Amino acid sequence: MRTRPLKVALLGCGVVGSEVARIMTTHADDLAARIGAPVELAGVAVRRPSKVREGIDPALITTDATALVQRGDIDVVVEVIGGIEPARTLITTAFENGASVVSANKALLAEDGAALHAAAEKYGRDLYYEAAVAGAIPLVRPLRESLAGDKVNRVLGIVNGTTNFILDKMDTSGAGYSEALDEATALGYAEADPTADVEGFDAAAKAAILAGIAFHTRVKIGDVHREGITEVTAADIASARRMGCTVKLLAICERAADGASVTARVHPAMIPLSHPLASVREAYNAVFVEAEAAGQLMFYGPGAGGSPTASAVLGDLVAVCRNKLGEATGPGESAYTRLPVSPMGEVVTRYHISLDVADKPGVLAQVATVFAEQGVSIDTVRQQGKDGEASLVVVTHRAPDAALSGTVEALRKLDTVRGVASIMRVEGE
Ligand code: HSE
Repeated sequence: MRTRPLKVALLGCGVVGSEVARIMTTHADDLAARIGAPVELAGVAVRRPSKVREGIDPALITTDATALVQRGDIDVVVEVIGGIEPARTLITTAFENGASVVSANKALLAEDGAALHAAAEKYGRDLYYEAAVAGAIPLVRPLRESLAGDKVNRVLGIVNGTTNFILDKMDTSGAGYSEALDEATALGYAEADPTADVEGFDAAAKAAILAGIAFHTRVKIGDVHREGITEVTAADIASARRMGCTVKLLAICERAADGASVTARVHPAMIPLSHPLASVREAYNAVFVEAEAAGQLMFYGPGAGGSPTASAVLGDLVAVCRNKLGEATGPGESAYTRLPVSPMGEVVTRYHISLDVADKPGVLAQVATVFAEQGVSIDTVRQQGKDGEASLVVVTHRAPDAALSGTVEALRKLDTVRGVASIMRVEGE
């Protein structure tokens, strides 16, 4: 074994960074044996240097992250500060100054992954980011490496633990959205400002990263259709139950049937209780991958938290250190297909629509005509009437999303339709 240690700089020492530092210390011998050289924490860049950080030599702490990545003797930079800047500049500077990078930064990779990969390639460095998607769950490496010889057609998953906790709570207790969010906040699952999670931004970033890797193309967060869970009601969940379904916030990345484009979307959807994703409870994540030769694979586990995310970072650190010792680099960006990303209107899906209508002759026929005019085929209709009013639940067959949303728009204009109580896509069948 080489005795000269590989030097690691840690950018950020919060929930994830402190766990990375702790595991690097407590598992130092195992890591050295697995890598073939010891790894040494050579510097830790933080914003608040006065904070007590147990187990970390205070002499390693600095507020000057730029100077740390410019040192020239750093082998690997671990970036766990998140956000676009200064993370982007620090990573690029690290590449320029001889270091490979392990990052957990989903927002940056989903926004500017191509430029970061290009910089890594230019300087002959590694860029690894297993921790950016679904915490501890091995997903980036299976897609980048294990399935590199296969053709992935679909990735369907629950990639946000906070929203899964909220929806699961609504499902099991009958609670409304606000009540379930309050519980998620009290238990520390939701942040004080839960926007990134509940509005689907976090899941959309992960969907962009997964779609790019799965289909060997470039997908940015702006290409991902995004709807959060704030509009999901207890009535939607109850309606899903009646259909033998539950509601999940899904990230869905698909290759079009003709293979000429891809789509990526994040939105709440009903899935049958028999689908493996329906049994993903609390804050867990799970991702279903459909590949031509492999068939259906499911990856499941904790998608967030300091220790699970640190596990993914450490796995990357070992791989990058081994590459360094072997004077090699691991897989870089694979975006050769250059498949375009189609808009949401072209996605083929199914809708579950609840309408409040007048209960009188001809209303059902009027409603059915709107569906027919938009070329949308109805699968099932359930009606419940009371005092001249009725609630109508229509589930469609598969149709382009544009035709389905056109149908809803036209339904809203009918005098006999008092209101559209809920619209939800149905997936996973
Ligand atoms: N906030 C995310 C979640 C974890 O709830 O899953 C970090 O991406």
